[in-house]
Amino acid sequence: MQLPDHGANPTYFVEALGLQMKENSIDFSVNTNPLGPPSFIKENWLSYFSEIEKYPDPKAMVLKEIIAKQNDVDLNQVVVGNGAAEIIFLLAHVFREKHVLIVEPTFSEYRQACENHFCRVDSITLSPETNWALQPDMISKKLQSSDLVFICNPNNPTGVQYRKELLEKIIKEAKLANVVVVIDEAFFDFSLHQESVVPLLHQYDNLVVLRSVTKMYAIAGIRLGYALSSEKLVSSITRWQHPWNTNQLAQQIGSRCLLDLQFAKNTARYIAEERNRLKRKLVELEYSISPSSVNYYLLKEKSEDRDLLGLLTYLIEHQIIPRHTYNFQGLEGKYIRLAIKEQDENDKLLKVLESWKAKC
Ligand SMILES: Cc1ncc(COP(=O)(O)O)c(C=O)c1O
Repeated sequence: MQLPDHGANPTYFVEALGLQMKENSIDFSVNTNPLGPPSFIKENWLSYFSEIEKYPDPKAMVLKEIIAKQNDVDLNQVVVGNGAAEIIFLLAHVFREKHVLIVEPTFSEYRQACENHFCRVDSITLSPETNWALQPDMISKKLQSSDLVFICNPNNPTGVQYRKELLEKIIKEAKLANVVVVIDEAFFDFSLHQESVVPLLHQYDNLVVLRSVTKMYAIAGIRLGYALSSEKLVSSITRWQHPWNTNQLAQQIGSRCLLDLQFAKNTARYIAEERNRLKRKLVELEYSISPSSVNYYLLKEKSEDRDLLGLLTYLIEHQIIPRHTYNFQGLEGKYIRLAIKEQDENDKLLKVLESWKAKC
C-alpha cells in the first residue's frame, strides 16, 4: 500500500486504500484556512485575468518590498518561492551531500528534499509521552555532526508551538558550531500567541525563517511562500531559482493578502475558539488530542496505542477524509491528523467519531 506523502488531493489517498470517495466527502486532511480565501480575490478576478498575458516581475519587487517592510528586514534578505515547498528544495540543493538534522515527527518534505539531494539525514524524534516537547540539549548533542537543522514551528503534524527562548538557545549554539537553522513558520499566523523568530534575524546570520502564504490565505492553488535570512544565504538560495518562479497571480494576490492582517487575526481567533470547543467534545468522547496551537491536531484513541487503519477507513466511509500518519516518524499510523474546519463540518466529524466509539 503506497499512500500519498501529503494531505490534500484526497482522491489519491482514498484510491490508495482501495476505497471509493463518497459524494460530499469533507477533506479534513488539508490544513489551509477553512474560511476560504479573502473576498477581494473573487471580487477582482476579472482584473487579475487581464494581467495574465504579461510575464511576472522576475524579481517580484512589489511583493518583496511588502515582505521586507512587514518583517523589518532588508530587501536582499527576502526570497520568494512558488510555495514554501520550492524554498525547501532549494535549501536542500544548497546543502546537497551535507549533513542534515530534522526534528521529527514533522513535514515529510524536508527529508524527501534532502534525500533527493544526497544529504545524510539524521533525526531527533520527539515523544508523545512528553507532549512532543523539544529540549535544546537533544539538538546540542548532534550539532557538531550537522550542517543544517530543520525545525517546524508550530509543528506539522502535532501543532505544538516551541517557545522562542528555546529556539534562540538552539540557534545561538548552532551559530557557534557553524550550523544553519531553518525554522519553518508556515502555520505561525494561525496561532493566537505568535512568537516568531524573525526578530532574531538581526542577531543571527545562520537563521532561515520559512513562511507559507498558501495556508492562511487559502491560495494553495496559486502557490506562494517566502524565506527570510542573511544576505549571504539568500543569494546562495536564489542562485538556483528558475526565472519567473512566482507567477503573476501569486505576486498580485499575495501582495494584497499579506497586507490584510485583520483577515489573519480573525482567522486565528476563529481557530482558537473552534479548537477549544472540539477539544472539550473529543475529550468527553474519550479521544486524546495533541496540544495544538494551530488549525490541525493529532487524534488518537485514549489509552489505546494501536494502528488506526480501522478508524481511518470508517471515517472515509462516512465522508470524512483524515490525514494518515504512516509517513511521520514516531507516529506510524497510531494517530490521525485532522484539520479544524467550519463549525458544521466539525460537527459532522464529531458525530462520526461518536458513532465509531459506540460501534467499538
Ligand atoms: C510545515 C510546512 N511547511 C511548508 C509547506 C509548504 O507550503 P506551500 O508550499 O504550500 O507554501 C507545508 C505544506 O503543507 C507545510 O506543512
